[in-house]
Amino acid sequence: MDKSIYNTIINEYENRQNKAYSLLSKKKAEVYTKIPRIEEIDREIQLCGVKYNKMILLESVSYDIAIDELHQKIKNLKKEKELLLEKNSFGSKYLEPKFQCIQCKDTGFLTTFKSTEKCSCFKQQYIDHLFKQSNLKLINEENFETFNDNFYPDVIDESKYGIKVSPRKNIFNIKEKALTFIDNIDNPSQKNLFFSGPTGVGKTFMINCIAAKLLNIGRTVLYQTSPSIFNIISEYRFNFQKGDIHENTIYNNIFNVELLIIDDLGTEPHTATRYAELLNIINIRQENNLVRPCKTILSSNLGINKLTEYYDERVASRIIGGFDLFRFAGEDIRMIKKLQS
Ligand SMILES: Nc1ncnc2c1ncn2[C@@H]1O[C@H](COP(=O)(O)OP(=O)(O)OP(=O)(O)O)[C@@H](O)[C@H]1O
Ligand SMILES: [Mg+2]
Ligand SMILES: [Zn+2]
Repeated sequence: MDKSIYNTIINEYENRQNKAYSLLSKKKAEVYTKIPRIEEIDREIQLCGVKYNKMILLESVSYDIAIDELHQKIKNLKKEKELLLEKNSFGSKYLEPKFQCIQCKDTGFLTTFKSTEKCSCFKQQYIDHLFKQSNLKLINEENFETFNDNFYPDVIDESKYGIKVSPRKNIFNIKEKALTFIDNIDNPSQKNLFFSGPTGVGKTFMINCIAAKLLNIGRTVLYQTSPSIFNIISEYRFNFQKGDIHENTIYNNIFNVELLIIDDLGTEPHTATRYAELLNIINIRQENNLVRPCKTILSSNLGINKLTEYYDERVASRIIGGFDLFRFAGEDIRMIKKLQS
């Protein structure tokens, strides 16, 4: 579990509890001035609680009877309080703290005699944070549930699409390999993915599909377009040289997230330092991947041949060696959608 997200959530729970209790004390003050008897009742209930605890400690002889009596007394007091609240049109539950999650009372944890485990609301929050941190904006619309293969022609036309099978068959194959990639995320010998192909054929869509599945099982993902990732790195280096060295989560995540996606590779400004940066990212992540999941997906309009022209030999050979290469093909789905609408 990502530590910084974990801490953020714990803080969030503290805030929620503080809010619930401060609201409650405001309501109490309001009620006590209007119905002084309720303040007395609350004090009596508290006293019963103290007595109850003492009895358990002392294990006195008449233990069972006394406990029953105390329970009955508390019950009666609570009933009286509810009736009073209702009579004064507050509603009988007015003085109960309002938690967002009634199961864990906004603590994030469910505690029994035997164990403490995270509440389902904690797990959901964690996933929500993962989605936010991933920087993927269209993920709710673009995922395997909304995946539509009808956009891919079911005809073989090598001269048009540049592949020997139909675009439909091709996308099925890619989808299958994408699912294997997800299943094998923990396997160090599962290669990274490189998606190439012309504009509008679903590279970013497939990226969203993969990311959504991984995020939903609690994996960390970071999506960046190529220009933005290089900007983040340059900015970090610039600040670092200025001596302005503070924790930079996004920068760290580039090297440490379980899945890093660099989309639109080849659209960043063309400079030699960029190649070195890219090589550095790929190298560090491949090293990390030997001990923990640290996978990378690259996507580009550049085909493999162009890659060698655009980047230097070292970058291209790194990509060819460490990545499974997939060529997307078909019509420009953006155009099809526009014509349909
Ligand atoms: N399998 C699919 N099912 C439904 N819609 C899709 C699918 N693939 C792509 N689309 C839609 O087609 C459009 C273009 O897809 P996408 O953005 O993934 O293309 P791309 O290959 O990343 O293009 P570019 O190279 O320009 O970034 C988007 O609106 C996307 O939602
Ligand atoms: Mg794209
Ligand atoms: Zn909960």
